[in-house]
This record gives sequence, C-alpha cells and structure tokens, in this order.
Amino acid sequence: MVPTPLTVRAPAKVNLHLGVGEVRPDGFHELVTVFQALSLHDDVTLTPSDALTLHVTGEGVRDVPTDPTNLAARAVVALAERYGRDPNMRIDIAKGIPVAGGMAGGSADAAAALLGAATLWGLEIGRDDLDEVAATLGSDVPFSLHGHTALGTGRGERLIPALARGEFHWTLALAREGLSTPAVYRELDRLREAGDPPRAGSPDALLAAVASGDPHRLAPLLTNDLQAAALSLQPGLRRTLRAGIEAGALAGIVSGSGPTCAFLCASADDAVDVGTELAGAGVCRTVRVASGPVPGATVVP
Ligand code: C5P
Repeated sequence: MVPTPLTVRAPAKVNLHLGVGEVRPDGFHELVTVFQALSLHDDVTLTPSDALTLHVTGEGVRDVPTDPTNLAARAVVALAERYGRDPNMRIDIAKGIPVAGGMAGGSADAAAALLGAATLWGLEIGRDDLDEVAATLGSDVPFSLHGHTALGTGRGERLIPALARGEFHWTLALAREGLSTPAVYRELDRLREAGDPPRAGSPDALLAAVASGDPHRLAPLLTNDLQAAALSLQPGLRRTLRAGIEAGALAGIVSGSGPTCAFLCASADDAVDVGTELAGAGVCRTVRVASGPVPGATVVP
C-alpha cells in the first residue's frame, strides 16, 4: 500500500509588543509579549517511510538544516519518544516564512510536525500534552500551534489568548542577511550593561487597541525591546524602517529578533502600496504583504 501523506500548514508571527526582562538562571530572558499570527505559511508534509528524512523547498533553503537538528525532525523524535512511536517518516517542508527572519519560521515547522505526527499516529492526546512537548522545542512553538493573537509570558511559551477584532494589514520587508536570535539577545544584554535603553511598559493599552480593531490606535503602541539590539547589529534596518513610514505605513517595527521589518498599514490596499514603494527603494531583499490574526497549525484537508 502506498503511504498517505499528511500536510499541516503553520503561520508566521509578529510580536506586537515584546518586553524583555531579566536573564533567568536557565539563560532565557523573562518575556511579556503579544504575538499575532500572520498569513505567511510553511507547509509541512509527513509521509510514513522507513527512515527519518528531511526535504526543504522554497526561498532561503540553503540556510535550513536538513539533518536531525532541524526543529521539525526534533519535534517528530520528541513526540515519538514520549508516546513510544516509530519516528521514521519523510518530512517535506515548503518554506513560505522568511528563514532566520524573526518570524518564527522554524517554530512553525516544529508546530506543524508535532500536529502532523500526532494526527498520523492517531494519538489521543489533548492540546495541553502537545503544548508541553512544544515548549521543550522552542519558546515560540506553543504560539505557532495556537495562532491568532495571544499574550505570552515566561520565556514566551505560556499563552493567554487575546481578543482581536477584525483584520490587521501588514507589509513585511525581508532583509538580505538573517540574524541569529541568541546573538540579538546577547547584544541587548550588552547594550543594557553599557547604558539603560528604554524598556517596553505594560501591554495593557496595546491589548485594548488590538481588541478595538483600529490600526490607527494600535500603531503608536507597537514596541519591541529587541529592536535596539537588531539595529545595533544591522544598522541598515533604520533606513528600511524610515522608508516604510515615508511610504505610508502607520508604524514599523523589527519583527521579534529581526531582521524582518513589519509595517502596520491602514488597509490591504495601503499594504500593497507600501510594499511596492519599499521594493523600489532598494532597502530590503524583497517584500510580502500579510494579514492577521490567522489560526495556528492546521491540518490541510
Ligand atoms: O526558545 P528558542 O530556541 O526560540 O530561543 C532561541 C534563543 O533565544 C535562546 O537560546 C536564547 O538565547 C534566546 N532567548 C532568550 N529568552 C527567551 C527566548 C529566547 O534569551 N525568552
């Protein structure tokens, strides 16, 4: 019998608010963050096989590991070990999320692989069980499973769903070079030792703005403590941020640890216009438009 493949789609994320607290004894930073899932996706297809293999297609694939260190492979192995299954399968990842871009592309693959393997094996487990495994794989993996808009605490893995009305429209400027997340956190630690860069306050006003559905209200509240560190490592991103505002975006921030810049726009049409201007201005490698919130990892029928 020919094995039946199963495809799971998982979204990118942007942090609308990213407050970075102190370094914990385990080396992670205490976070208060508001995630929103965006309509850029990776598709992960699992096919039962006699070996665990990985195949990656799409933009930026040369920077994605195809060995057992790949987060999707680690997800399958972790779930197999926990529930006594055979992890052998072919994993095909079709990348639509920028690689090393601060948009949780690797976490999306892990979340998709977890949900896919649990479905393939017919595991009778709840979302809490899947969340527990997800959190061992990476701080953003639980959010990639859940999607929509959520408040994240701890190292980002403890989630509370947040109310969001309507649809927000985004233009994303993808950079030529990626940034390493640990390097960006280290740079923030260095900047904080050298001085006292401003810190994000409470996300309450931002959460109310998200619930109102009004992008004009949300725009001035977008904040990211990692932005100063990302700009310090890639100073050219300042020009990108400026160009997006000049092109008509309501606000622009570095997405997560960067270097992707995310621009909030007043409408879908505006997002396309901002993207066209940014592409012409030569301040980024390429642009995407997206909207959010969207659901987390979902089996494709
Ligand atoms: O959890 P994840 O593997 O995505 O984290 C990647 C790296 O980002 C960590 O090894 C750590 O250096 C940094 N990080 C952190 N504090 C967090 C999340 C990530 O310092 N809350």
